[in-house]
Amino acid sequence: MQLDFSGKVALVTGAASGIGEAVARQLAASGAQVVVADLDRGAAEQVASGIGAQARARQLDVSDADAVRQLVEATVAEYGGLHLAVNNAGIGGASLATADYPLEEWHRVLGVNLHGVFHSMKYEIAAMLAGGGGAIVNMASILGSNGWAGSTAYVAAKHALVGMTKTAALEYSARGLRINAVGPGFIDTPLLAGMERAAYDGLVALHPAGRLGTAEEVAALTCFLLSDQASFITGSYHLVDGGFSAR
Ligand SMILES: NC(=O)c1ccc[n+]([C@@H]2O[C@H](COP(=O)([O-])OP(=O)(O)OC[C@H]3O[C@@H](n4cnc5c(N)ncnc54)[C@H](O)[C@@H]3O)[C@@H](O)[C@H]2O)c1
Repeated sequence: MQLDFSGKVALVTGAASGIGEAVARQLAASGAQVVVADLDRGAAEQVASGIGAQARARQLDVSDADAVRQLVEATVAEYGGLHLAVNNAGIGGASLATADYPLEEWHRVLGVNLHGVFHSMKYEIAAMLAGGGGAIVNMASILGSNGWAGSTAYVAAKHALVGMTKTAALEYSARGLRINAVGPGFIDTPLLAGMERAAYDGLVALHPAGRLGTAEEVAALTCFLLSDQASFITGSYHLVDGGFSAR
């Protein structure tokens, strides 16, 4: 399916690596102007220069609400509007049981994975409404609907993100804004780097497809949801998980 994002301006957070990078590349390949926003300025610049004239790198910490506001305002000032957003920046956090989970780590993970998405939606929605509408995808996870021992903060953030997505869709879908969440299974990206072989194989075994997913497979669903082909899809949570959740 050929998607056409010509004339659209897109903001992708966490776009310097993995899923966000694949989304930024696919959006640009379909005609969008893309803001490649990431905490890692150098990596964002590399991704943007690999894409070419349709991408610009911007340094952003999504846990900083004011920084998100400034980036959204600067994007609108520079390009004349904001039409598409993928709130994808996320971290894994420590792997510890709930009673052992350090308070500071809880706040760090929630700060990026939940507050970061709230900050992003808050300012993106205002900008999109001013331009007559748009589409947002929030990057959840299969852990937006399943538990995972050792990841209480991550699981809490991803569940909350699904609820926040549904709520925002109820609020804005009649005003030309579609808001959805995507729930990837385990995807082979740098987020999983450093994992031992046995642990990796254990994750593979949880996916009936017999492998982990690729960033490009998640990007394909994300870009479809952003496109006009998905014009009646809003307020929902879409899995791309190789059958993980069918068990
Ligand atoms: N890889 C997986 O198995 C998997 C599965 C389900 C969901 N996800 C979700 O997909 C998203 C992307 O994950 P990925 O696997 O591509 O990870 P990744 O580590 O490859 O990329 C994440 C990017 O986010 C950036 N980032 C981190 N903190 C940030 C902050 N505070 N502000 C801005 N940018 C920040 C990082 O610099 C990095 O470039 C995350 O939300 C993750 O939870 C990943």
